[in-house]
Amino acid sequence: MCGIVGIVGREPVAERLVDALRRLEYRGYDSAGVATIDSGVLARRRAEGKLFNLEKKLAEDPLPGTIGIAHTRWATHGVPNETNAHPHFVDGVAVVHNGIIENFSELKEELIGEGVTFETQTDTEVVGQLIARSLRNGMGRREAMQAMLKQVTGAYALAVIFADDPSTIMAARSGPPLAIGHGRGEMYLGSDAIALAPFTNEITYLVDGDWAILGRDGAFIFDHDGNRVERPRQISQSAAYMVDKGNHRHFMEKEIYEQPEVISHALAQYVDLGDHTVDTSICGAIDFASLRSLAISACGTAYLSGLIGKYWFERYARLPVEIDVASEFRYREIPLAKDQAALFISQSGETADTLASLRYCQEVGLKIGAVVNVKESTIARESDAIFPILAGPEIGVASTKAFTCQLTVLASLAIAAGKLRGTIAPDEERQLVKSLTEMPRLMSSVLNAVESQIEALARELSRYQDVLYLGRGTSYPLALEGALKLKEISYIHAEGYAAGELKHGPIALIDENMPVIVIAPFDRFFEKTISNMQEVAARGGKIIFITDEKGAAASKLPTMATITLPHVAEIVAPMVYSLPIQLLAYHTAVFMGTDVDQPRNLAKSVTVE
Ligand code: M6R
Repeated sequence: MCGIVGIVGREPVAERLVDALRRLEYRGYDSAGVATIDSGVLARRRAEGKLFNLEKKLAEDPLPGTIGIAHTRWATHGVPNETNAHPHFVDGVAVVHNGIIENFSELKEELIGEGVTFETQTDTEVVGQLIARSLRNGMGRREAMQAMLKQVTGAYALAVIFADDPSTIMAARSGPPLAIGHGRGEMYLGSDAIALAPFTNEITYLVDGDWAILGRDGAFIFDHDGNRVERPRQISQSAAYMVDKGNHRHFMEKEIYEQPEVISHALAQYVDLGDHTVDTSICGAIDFASLRSLAISACGTAYLSGLIGKYWFERYARLPVEIDVASEFRYREIPLAKDQAALFISQSGETADTLASLRYCQEVGLKIGAVVNVKESTIARESDAIFPILAGPEIGVASTKAFTCQLTVLASLAIAAGKLRGTIAPDEERQLVKSLTEMPRLMSSVLNAVESQIEALARELSRYQDVLYLGRGTSYPLALEGALKLKEISYIHAEGYAAGELKHGPIALIDENMPVIVIAPFDRFFEKTISNMQEVAARGGKIIFITDEKGAAASKLPTMATITLPHVAEIVAPMVYSLPIQLLAYHTAVFMGTDVDQPRNLAKSVTVE
């Protein structure tokens, strides 16, 4: 979603602000803008579309000034045109905003009633108008900022500069994250530490309800009531990561190929690679031994990893799991008791619905675990136990390596839980962990083996308008993930179904125009899935069969293509079978010429409901 950066500096800032925005591109956006103050005058450049449009404007008409704020906008209120692009100016006040001001309509009506005119369709403009009104009424800048914060409700990260104060940025957070960066004689503001990595690795995260005044030599932070507060300064690891594509065409491709390596790192953290055991201390504050049940909640791909986790917790730890997408979980008024725990899965650790579900469980007094990639995120900070997935920054909007790393962590936790609950014998533990440790090698060999076949198949798939994915057991959530991946980056309509559900409706769709991707390792569900595949073949459906050597040998059905993987243990199949699914979506999208890393309308980090 929207990205914010700000610099109170000693040298011109416009170019550096745009460089920092580039590091926030992965969040998704449809317009961008930058504003600076020079000789007491606010000036801005804004452009619809990608950052190069903004850069072109800056090249033609540079912006001087050693203080500035900048923004990438993911449209919520108002179309993504230049007028609605941030920063918004009102009487010498410039504002950028990430989030939604929920009461903006009432505030706007009130201001219009007072004779104020609005330039944009955005909710953000009320922020500038409220501050400007207070300034007109004689308030100081700081009081005006505080007064505005008392009037607005909703989710926001805000940065504000004032034409008549070229040495101060004001910032506020309620919901979406905001980080202050400490420099030498300069201070920075950013939506995350990745944006600030070229400037500094010394970061202070604002807590919900905080607002701050940044000068060149430091920052003062206040809580919602205006009391000075201290927040810890941390050394961020983000600078250590090279956020570039290496030899790959897209971040998504790079991230698909990184999986064997990052999964090795994750595994090393959760299992003993030598004696093939799990140390139950990885469970931290979650006492799996005494739990009656576990509630899991997440969004999108993270939810689908949780759905696979459910199969594992129930099978290996005999622990009942309640799972729901976070946007439903939070409003379902689900009865929860203290002998349950809750697990939230999120790559970014900032997803608004997941965070709201977490807070709901916190109120009930449940122990909270977080399976996150960003360890400094809000979800991580508000949890009792953090289970980092160690995937490194994931920049492509389509989640790939975060998914398989989440699965790796969930599998390890399910084994540890089984051990604690006495439902896994030592032999079974060793066998399961040994299978996990073989996974990175298997994944490397699959990546090498299937790419060219999948590339050719993608060319064919791109001719269709609808695709169905089928699977059973843990291959069912994988079918859902395959469909999600294909639709989000290629814009081809795709649906995932439990293979057993085929006869209950979707079979009506089967004809020669509907490729059906069947995910069927040669496991205990294989025969049943083959029967469903038979039903597809009998109706002229075109089958893309993803299986292993044993499965390929056992099935005699005609297929459009058969992608044959090595035979793997059941617990690692979801990770290994993710690879052909990700590659198929990736190459189809590349072939269709879509914006693979930043697909239309999507945001990497969804910080609003
Ligand atoms: O950061 P999170 O893991 O909480 O994000 C959840 C979803 O928004 C995310 O997985 C989304 O579905 C991806 N674009 C899927 O590829």
